[in-house]
Amino acid sequence: MEPFIAMKIAILGAGAIGQLLAHQLATAGSKPVLLVKANQVEVDTPFVIEQQDGRKLRHFESYCVTDAQLPEVELVIVTLKAYQVTAALMAWLPKLPKQCHILLLHNGIGTHLELASRLAHHGLSLGTTSQAALKITPHTIKQTGTGITQFGHYCGTPISDELQQLLLTAIPDSCQVEHILTALWHKLAINAVINPLTAIEDIPNGALAAEKYQYTISAILAELMQVAELEGIELDGQFIAGRVKQVIELTADNYSSMHQDVAFQRPTEIDYINGYLVKRAQAHGIQLFHNQQLWQQIQQLSQH
Ligand code: PAF
Repeated sequence: MEPFIAMKIAILGAGAIGQLLAHQLATAGSKPVLLVKANQVEVDTPFVIEQQDGRKLRHFESYCVTDAQLPEVELVIVTLKAYQVTAALMAWLPKLPKQCHILLLHNGIGTHLELASRLAHHGLSLGTTSQAALKITPHTIKQTGTGITQFGHYCGTPISDELQQLLLTAIPDSCQVEHILTALWHKLAINAVINPLTAIEDIPNGALAAEKYQYTISAILAELMQVAELEGIELDGQFIAGRVKQVIELTADNYSSMHQDVAFQRPTEIDYINGYLVKRAQAHGIQLFHNQQLWQQIQQLSQH
């Protein structure tokens, strides 16, 4: 554990997943910090995680970053909502060392295209996680699901071996993958089906197993496969359809993040899910009927 203490990982996004990673890194012996402004959290309140077996873990030391720690940051893990990423990262970057590595870990795709040219001095990795957590109070989270976390190199200087080893040690079921964009497209397929449909129909994920949704699910995935091919991403259509079905079953009782965003009148990640597919299709000169319709319907629901 000792060697990890010196490595400074900062987490941008103090939501449930950001805090979950902070607890996991702290448990592995590292001292992560949350990139939060002083007025956003109570600095002296301990962070608490309720694990799935009901045990509570309390990390008394505050995770909140101090100005003195900023020049030491070696890796920033960004766990914000996709639509917050670019603006928030641009605001913090001038205070961070030029060589610190960035790992984007959020639902949806597209922020890497917005950021790649601006991160010329920093290396950029992308990742995706199936771990799930709920924020109960600003300093208390409850882990609600386990699952794999994948990350891999996208551009610039690769992440150092030491940092990579720390992530693999700290995050359960984590692995480094060579084709990270393919992994992100697998998650995109799951989100492109489950998130908008559950939000529009006002149903839990499991309701999508009903026969009446199967045509729409196949049509969304057929369009996704078409765009993936144009983007040079190799996907196995049968595997993707099977994985979507499996996630619908495994998370049957859950309400998707987009369902919750719409219900609580928060912005959604639709621009980085079905919206991303439509925009990439347009870049290749084609229109997508089903994904375009879902994008519009969620935009309309959000306006109400
Ligand atoms: O966004 C979500 O809610 C989740 O990624 C998933 C896997 C669709 C489960 O609800």
